Amino acid sequence: MPKGTLAAYLDFAPREESFRDVALAGLMRHRKSVPCRFLYDARGSELFERICELPEYYVTRAETALLAERAGEIAARIGPRARLIEFGSGASTKVRLLLDALDRPSSYVPIDISGNMLHSAASAIAADFPALEVIAVCADYMDPLRLPTLVRSTRDRRVGFFPGSTIGNLMPEEAVRFLRGCRELIGPGGAMIVGADLKKDPAALHAAYNDAAGVTAQFTLNILARMNRELGADFNLKRFAHEAFYNEEAGRIEIYVESLMDQLVTISGECIAFTAGERVHVEYSYKFTVDEFRRLAARAGFKPLDCWTDAENRFSVHYLVA
Ligand code: TRP
Repeated sequence: MPKGTLAAYLDFAPREESFRDVALAGLMRHRKSVPCRFLYDARGSELFERICELPEYYVTRAETALLAERAGEIAARIGPRARLIEFGSGASTKVRLLLDALDRPSSYVPIDISGNMLHSAASAIAADFPALEVIAVCADYMDPLRLPTLVRSTRDRRVGFFPGSTIGNLMPEEAVRFLRGCRELIGPGGAMIVGADLKKDPAALHAAYNDAAGVTAQFTLNILARMNRELGADFNLKRFAHEAFYNEEAGRIEIYVESLMDQLVTISGECIAFTAGERVHVEYSYKFTVDEFRRLAARAGFKPLDCWTDAENRFSVHYLVA
C-alpha cells in the first residue's frame, strides 16, 4: 500500500491494560465473562476477517453495499469541507466509500486503539487522498471526551462515523453514554453516521453467528487459545464449545464459551473450576428496529434525520444530528 504523509499522529497511548488481570477477574466471578475486546489478537483478527466473508455473516457485506449505494446521498447530507472522525477505524476500509463521495472533505481523523494498524491505514488514506488532512489518533474511542482537543479544534463541520454495528456490542446504557460523548465531541451542528444491524428472522441471525464451516466457533474459542499462548493457561479446547443464540426478548445475540464437563483449568498460576454446562460470557450483539435505534439516539440528545436500509432489510445506516 502506498504511504502518504500524516498531518499528525497523536499517541494517546491507551492505558496499558493487563489481559491477565482482566481475564482472571472475569473468570473468578460467579457469572464468568471475558470482555470481547480480547477476541482480537493477531489470530482473532485474521479469523474475524474470514467471518466477514462467510456466506452466513451478512453484516459486513450488507453495510458495505449500503454505504456504496447511498454514498452520494450521505455526502449531500454532510455537505462540503467537513471533518470526518471515525471511531474505531481499523483498516479504514468502509470510510473510503464516504471520502470518495464527499465534497472536498477538509480532514479525516481515524481513532483506533491499535497503533500499528492505525498508522498504516491512515498513511494509505493520506496517500490516496492528497488534499485531505489526516490526523491519526491512537486512543480508546469509547471515551470520546478524553480525546485530544485537536480532534475538535476546527471550524469545519465535524461528522462522526461509527460503522459495523459495533454500537450493538454495547449495553444500551453504555451505547447512550457513548453517543452522548460523541455529541459533545462533534459539537452543535455536527452529525453522526452510525451502522446498526436490524432485527430479522431469528434463523438468519442464528446462522450468522453459527456458520456451517465453524469459523465463528474457532473465533470464540480463540479467546481460550490466547490465554494458553499468553498467560500459560492449560485450556483443552476440545472440552469447551462456542455457543451463540438469539435472545428474542432482549433483542440480542448472546455469545458464550461453554464448558463441556466439570474441569479445572490453571491460568497464570490460578486454578479455576468450570462445571459441565457452565458458560463464560463473551459478547452481546444487539439488533434494532429502525425506531428502536432512533429512540436510543434521541436519548443521547441526537435528532435522527435519515435512515438508509438495504433492499432485504438486513442493515441500517443512520444519520443523526447533534
Ligand atoms: N461485532 C461483531 C458482531 O456483533 C462481532 C462478531 C461477529 C462476533 N461474530 C462473532 C463476536 C462471534 C464473537 C463471536 O456481529
